[in-house]
Amino acid sequence: MQLHYLSKAFGKVNLRERRKTLKVSADLARMRRIEVRPAAGSAARPAGIPRAPMRGHPMKRTINFNAGPAALPLPALERARDEFLDFAGSGMSVMEHSHRGKDYEAVHDEAIALVRELLGVPASYEVLLLQGGATALFAQIPLNLLEKGATAQYLVTGAWGEKALGEAKIVSAMFGASIAVQSLGVGEGKEKSYTRVPAPSGVKVDSGSAYLHITSNETIHGVEYNVDPSRAFPATGAVPLIADMSSDFLWRPFDVTKFGLVYAGAQKNIGPSGVVVVVISKELVEKGRKDIPKIFQFRTHAENKSLYNTPPTFGVYMVRNVLSWLKGQGGIAGMEKVNRKKAARLYGVIDGNPEYFRSPVERESRSVMNIVFRLPTPELEERFIAETKKQGMIGLKGHRSVGGIRASIYNAVPYEWVESLAAFMEAFARAK
Ligand SMILES: Cc1ncc(COP(=O)(O)O)c(C=O)c1O
Repeated sequence: MQLHYLSKAFGKVNLRERRKTLKVSADLARMRRIEVRPAAGSAARPAGIPRAPMRGHPMKRTINFNAGPAALPLPALERARDEFLDFAGSGMSVMEHSHRGKDYEAVHDEAIALVRELLGVPASYEVLLLQGGATALFAQIPLNLLEKGATAQYLVTGAWGEKALGEAKIVSAMFGASIAVQSLGVGEGKEKSYTRVPAPSGVKVDSGSAYLHITSNETIHGVEYNVDPSRAFPATGAVPLIADMSSDFLWRPFDVTKFGLVYAGAQKNIGPSGVVVVVISKELVEKGRKDIPKIFQFRTHAENKSLYNTPPTFGVYMVRNVLSWLKGQGGIAGMEKVNRKKAARLYGVIDGNPEYFRSPVERESRSVMNIVFRLPTPELEERFIAETKKQGMIGLKGHRSVGGIRASIYNAVPYEWVESLAAFMEAFARAK
């Protein structure tokens, strides 16, 4: 039987013919390190397919300021490349392993242990690896923690807080509960803006609330708690504080015991999309409702070490790689120093060139992860983005809902990339 694959871009390729042109080293294959490479002069690679860089060949990395999925640390990607076909000498990819087998389980356990170690998570908390993005948690949190007559507080400082609130409202209507909202948004509709997080004294905490929800870093609006000491996380006493930390998890240390639950989609600071890390107090796990489907109960995942159903195994594997890299960088305390230095460099250029750049965010609330800024006109912003692309920098266009420029500078973005952007901004301002 002829094996063919068809692709619009590459045309028809006879795979049997293609295989003949591949040289497989028997010795290396025996060592389970199969290297497949086209024979010299072969036309096996259809025109137009970029050649993947071979081991040992220098590769040009794109300067990536994407907000998420975002840049990943090169060593974590290289490790994945090296282990891709043959994981731990097993003769198969980690993706081909059973999630019930010891090889995968070791990776899974290591990922959880690394979160515990890096953050100093106490034994009274569970670390869960879930799916469905942070968006699933927007619903899962009220599903577990609301009951008839209860109230949950939502402190909204940007677009992601609004989304979390929207899901909570749906769940509260289902359960006969209510939601109390404190929003820092100014204006309405398209004109609505968020430029700050509150000081702890500005947060009203109702001691009878089921929980108080915040978004510790608003990825789109670039406002973040606890960067400036005057904007510490709200003090909620006995009310569990819940934080969406999707875009600022593990860039700095924080005291887990101040929170009832924190959650983070992996695709910014800790891995690829498809995994959500949840750190939750055992008390909240136990309090969770038992009359919702098992798959949505935190209890189910806590009791089954996040192996109740098939986890996103490759995603968890990548989280393991990223966290083990992070540990090697001196952990999150070391990371914080570099991250603050990166943010200070960019805000320095913005503040130093007020005729060209403007931060819409109040100084004390400025995010270290997502640096949002404006130029005098939308035309200049477009030109700025076009010019940065020519310099090999991507991901600088602000979110479509707010426009402007946004540089996301998560853990994996090295200082040198930020320096390239800062130097470009200075040159751009000088040239105008
Ligand atoms: C702060 C924050 N929360 C939630 C989300 C939604 O995450 P997901 O798309 O993984 O559900 C995002 C995505 O960018 C985010 O930045």
